Amino acid sequence: MPSAPAPPGPRIRDLPWLLRARAQNPLALLTRARERYGDVVHMSLAGRHAVLVSRPDLAVRLLAGSAADLEKWRLDGNRRVLFGNGLLTSDGELWRRPAFERDRMGGYAEAIVRHAAARADGWRDGTVIDASAEMTAITTLVVGEVMFGLDLAPDIDRIRHAVGAAMEYFQLLQPPLGGIRSRLPTRTRRTFLRARDDLDAVVARAIATRTAAGGGGDMLGMLLSARDDDGRPIPADLIRDEMLTMLGAGLETTASALAFAWWEVARHPDAADRLAAEAAAWDGTPDPGPLPFARSVFEETLRLHPPAWIVSRVVATPVEIDGWTAPAGTILLVSPYLMHRDAERFPDPERFDPDRPLPADGVSGFLPFGAGPRKCIGTHLARAEGPLVLATVARAVRLHAAGAPPRERPMVTLRPDHGPMMRVQRR
Ligand code: HEM
Repeated sequence: MPSAPAPPGPRIRDLPWLLRARAQNPLALLTRARERYGDVVHMSLAGRHAVLVSRPDLAVRLLAGSAADLEKWRLDGNRRVLFGNGLLTSDGELWRRPAFERDRMGGYAEAIVRHAAARADGWRDGTVIDASAEMTAITTLVVGEVMFGLDLAPDIDRIRHAVGAAMEYFQLLQPPLGGIRSRLPTRTRRTFLRARDDLDAVVARAIATRTAAGGGGDMLGMLLSARDDDGRPIPADLIRDEMLTMLGAGLETTASALAFAWWEVARHPDAADRLAAEAAAWDGTPDPGPLPFARSVFEETLRLHPPAWIVSRVVATPVEIDGWTAPAGTILLVSPYLMHRDAERFPDPERFDPDRPLPADGVSGFLPFGAGPRKCIGTHLARAEGPLVLATVARAVRLHAAGAPPRERPMVTLRPDHGPMMRVQRR
């Protein structure tokens, strides 16, 4: 059967409109494109076909496509500059790691509660904290301990700045000028290169420490002790790449969601009261089971401010999209941010409402962790960490808004543009 024409979307004559929307920000561009053209929008991006799919069944079907049909889109390999061949950027067999199985979460929960409690203990009454920085500190300590078996406390600031610098650099690489800009000796590039060296140093030291200490059932321990059929260890640069990937994917995502969650809770006193009451009644057992309200707050935050605001693929073998055959090379874009704001599925979508019943991930249109074979490998960890950190912190303090509202900044992940700054009231 001949292919149907490409789905509707902006054409050359729409360029002024496109540029205006893009100048606002990519979230505005996606939102306008969907309002104007519907759930399947065809665009031309840097001279390539691109399709923005916001119909849940179709989006999930496409993301569930076999890995051979869809590759991750790699911004011309630029992310590889930082993350090498780690999971986020590699296509193929390196994917699943036993360290992420759900039954390990019990052990992780204890570390989450311990780190969150210790951090919150250090906040003095009446002081103002930067919620993103504090939440990143907690997620860094958690990933350091449960994935790498290491105390990353001395490296917290270095890692946070390095990940931030990498995100700024990736912003610069967006089409259409990314290829050129990536080679210019800008300050962003210099800062990024320093950041990359910093991260390399942190990771090299971690590997050396663990190689000397030996053992451990965490991810790094497994990687260090694994041998192939010929008895050879995993090459050091591959281990480095895996670790960088975990730092890139596992800290900032959860921390941004938590930072937005604190802001929303502070703006909704009723939610703050309920979170505090639930946390006070909780005995601190590291198990997210008995914390339904904290879980609802975290999930509703993932709906409204999904850290993974967009996922992308490149079509490797032609695939059918609404009758149109998307040729190899087509960029496929699926935006959880857009889908989570679909008023038909989520009435009054801009409202933060932790009592909103959220469906299971997937064809329901709720997909904060993506879908298909590349769905987030850290889903269980993040879903344990979010509510446990909220409850542990809420047992110790109440956080009040203490500055300008944060704006959503769509970088590699969706982050607050600052803080938000929160004033600490100890209980
Ligand atoms: C709220 C927190 C998180 C959110 C919203 C989130 C979201 C996502 C999404 C949507 C993807 C799929 C990207 C794609 O399809 O291209 C992904 C992939 C990934 N995530 Fe997460 N993530 C979170 C936390 C974590 C944590 C805590 C870790 C690990 C410690 C982690 C590790 C990864 C890795 C390694 C991948 C790549 C998997 C692959 O390519 O097969 N994530 N994440």
